[in-house]
Amino acid sequence: MLFVIALAVSLLVNTAPTHETGDFTYHGFRSANLSLDGLAALTGNGLLRLTNETEQKVSHAFYPNPITFKNSSSGAVYSFSTTFVFAIIPAYPRMGSPGFTFVITPRREFPGALPGHFFGLFNKTNDGNPTNHILAVEFDTILNNEVYDINDNHVGIDVNGLVSVKSFPAGYTENNIPGFKNLSLVSGKAMQGWVDYDGVQKQIRVTLAPINVDKPTTPLFSLSLNLSQIFKETMYVGFSSSTGTFLTTHYILGWSFKVNGQAHRLDLSQLPRLPHMKKKQKSILLTTGLPFICLFFLSTLVFAMVYAIRKRRKFTEVLEDWERDYSPHRFKYKDLYVATKGFRDQELLGAGGFGRVYKGVLPTSKTEIAVKRISHESRQGMRQFIAEIVSIGRLRHRNIVTLLGYCRRKGELLLVYDYMPNGSLDKYLYNQPKVTLSWSQRFRVIKGVAYGLYYLHEGWEQVVIHRDIKASNILLDSELNGRLGDFGLAKLYDHGTGPQSTHVVGTLGYMAPEYTLTARATASTDVYAFGTFLLEVTCGRRPIEVQEEDDVILVEWVFSCWDKGDILEARDPNLGTDFLAKEVELVLQLGLLCSQSQPTARPSMRQVVQYLEGDLALEEFSSLGISRSGFPFACHEGFGTSGRSYPFYGDNAFSHMSSVANSLLSGGR
Ligand SMILES: Nc1ncnc2c1ncn2[C@@H]1O[C@H](COP(=O)(O)OP(=O)(O)OP(=O)(O)O)[C@@H](O)[C@H]1O
Ligand SMILES: *[C@@H]1O[C@H](CO)[C@@H](O)[C@H](O)[C@H]1NC(C)=O
Ligand SMILES: *[C@@H]1O[C@H](CO)[C@@H](O)[C@H](O)[C@H]1NC(C)=O
Ligand SMILES: *[C@@H]1O[C@H](CO)[C@@H](O)[C@H](O)[C@H]1NC(C)=O
Ligand SMILES: *[C@@H]1O[C@H](CO)[C@@H](O)[C@H](O)[C@H]1NC(C)=O
Ligand SMILES: *[C@@H]1O[C@H](CO)[C@@H](O)[C@H](O)[C@H]1NC(C)=O
Ligand SMILES: *[C@@H]1O[C@H](CO)[C@@H](O)[C@H](O)[C@H]1NC(C)=O
Ligand SMILES: [Mg+2]
Repeated sequence: MLFVIALAVSLLVNTAPTHETGDFTYHGFRSANLSLDGLAALTGNGLLRLTNETEQKVSHAFYPNPITFKNSSSGAVYSFSTTFVFAIIPAYPRMGSPGFTFVITPRREFPGALPGHFFGLFNKTNDGNPTNHILAVEFDTILNNEVYDINDNHVGIDVNGLVSVKSFPAGYTENNIPGFKNLSLVSGKAMQGWVDYDGVQKQIRVTLAPINVDKPTTPLFSLSLNLSQIFKETMYVGFSSSTGTFLTTHYILGWSFKVNGQAHRLDLSQLPRLPHMKKKQKSILLTTGLPFICLFFLSTLVFAMVYAIRKRRKFTEVLEDWERDYSPHRFKYKDLYVATKGFRDQELLGAGGFGRVYKGVLPTSKTEIAVKRISHESRQGMRQFIAEIVSIGRLRHRNIVTLLGYCRRKGELLLVYDYMPNGSLDKYLYNQPKVTLSWSQRFRVIKGVAYGLYYLHEGWEQVVIHRDIKASNILLDSELNGRLGDFGLAKLYDHGTGPQSTHVVGTLGYMAPEYTLTARATASTDVYAFGTFLLEVTCGRRPIEVQEEDDVILVEWVFSCWDKGDILEARDPNLGTDFLAKEVELVLQLGLLCSQSQPTARPSMRQVVQYLEGDLALEEFSSLGISRSGFPFACHEGFGTSGRSYPFYGDNAFSHMSSVANSLLSGGR
């Protein structure tokens, strides 16, 4: 019976209009029966999410039952107290919109209420209307001058409308620590708010503090407010919020409320966790920053790759399998690049018909080198050429410029020679040289070159034809010894020889007449060029001097001097008087002897050396069958005394046969 009565009572209580005295505490809202609308929703872990990142929407969350706020007999509004923990998380740092309110209102529905700064509570028609009976404490993150907002981060008390009765910048004064501290509502951090109404004093106090800071005894602000006219007997309490254009999420983590008494303290440890703040911020950072970061990294990567590829390409070499045998003679392009300081112009020693020559210092051994860069297009014949270079590279003679090695790149061959500090001989001979050589120095060079050539022709297991003997290819070492250079190339050209060969490589004026006809280089064509060289060094004149009226051909001119009986007249005036007439005469005559058009009439290099050393006496020309009347030098095909035509080369007398040489370099026939 008692049970039945109890059941009836309980049923009665449940169905009776639920007026409440109002005393509740929520640590999270998992078990709460809030009345939600709009964007408001509960998250899985019990957070009350008032808004999510949706534009221009409203939201409301109310305690489900109306609460009695007024003594019906006296009409006085009771004291009440509430506290809640909230967080405003903007999608973009410090860009909130527009905030939320703690609201006490006679209705839970707001038809026609607007989002944005209307907080989902009012619209333009009813804003400020006393019939609204609404008290709201706004946490406003937007500066809206229409409603006289003080800034974009404030707390205000709104009565029936959006224009705050009083407002204050968000902040707090920590207990026992003097000084007001600003607090950014849109920091994304959880913070706590308190609203206390003293029904006797008719005063409302609003307090704010970061989470984990005790409730400040000094409120943010207080306001004397007689709520008698504003409140109805029963009211709903809850929160309203809305979104504007900036995407913001508003959360309530916990809430306690009490009429006629102090709201229960919230136990912060029991509150649900916010979606990880750091993560959220990171994701904000990622969404905005990631594309830039990606772009940055990508472009850095691309730059690095381009740089690496360029660098690799800059130093790429051509290395084929057959070259493994020659690896000791192989130089790394990078080393040569470093040695010549990137082949810069300051290191340029000179340029010839086949390429430029740069000075360099090998990084590891500190050896001084001269690097000759030769461009070549084809890889054909390269194998043979390298084989020759390496075999010649084994030549060691004090009158030969040592070929140290080579390097190959696409379209380019680099030959590495010993550096000759005193440069090439031509610099000391022509065009009013600053420094000229004395006769004894010249004679020493001549003898040296003769020995060098003799070695090439006879001292080596195979006959090496130089093919390009001339003053610019005679280099002077530190002791002013003459050394033959560029024989590496000469050997390469040898592949072009043979009866079927049609290519001629050499420098005009140094080429034996039969050579220009047959293109067959022999030891005696070298002797011919050597003869020209002898005359050149002694006379200080080029083999052919192109002049306006009449070109001077050195051989003919020296012969004519001899013919007149004064061969010494042909000597270089720069020699002065400090010379041995016997030696000068010997060299000039030997020059003429070597320059005979009949190859068999020329001496061998062995004989030349013997003549120069005085081991073999040079007989009078007449006894050699040369008579003053019959000139044996001018009967060349091509450039004789009569017609100065150079059928092979046009009249660019000193030009190299680069194209011919290149075709030989690339092995073409
Ligand atoms: N080993 C070296 N040491 C110092 N200087 C050198 C060396 N080799 C060449 N040179 C300098 O570089 C210049 C150019 O040489 P290069 O051999 O390219 O031209 P060339 O001798 O005038 O003509 P060619 O192409 O017929 O040999 C030379 O005149 C010389 O001054
Ligand atoms: C926001 O919440 C509403 C209601 O819960 C939902 O329909 C909408 O999809 C949500 N939007 C986003 C962006 O989360
Ligand atoms: C929740 O509140 C509504 C009224 O707002 C009521 O109809 C419903 O029965 C309540 N549910 C629970 C589980 O308390
Ligand atoms: C309501 O007011 C009357 C008269 O002023 C008073 O006697 C009564 O105790 C009040 N009731 C409450 C619940 O405060
Ligand atoms: C304004 O709001 C009130 C109450 O919420 C509503 O009755 C009214 O129709 C709204 N006015 C407009 C223009 O939406
Ligand atoms: C606090 O904010 C106000 C403006 O709202 C500003 O003038 C003041 O400098 C801020 N104080 C600090 C310590 O940031
Ligand atoms: C509050 O307002 C009511 C009604 O207007 C009035 O009767 C009462 O005296 C006011 N109280 C105070 C303290 O001003
Ligand atoms: Mg040269």
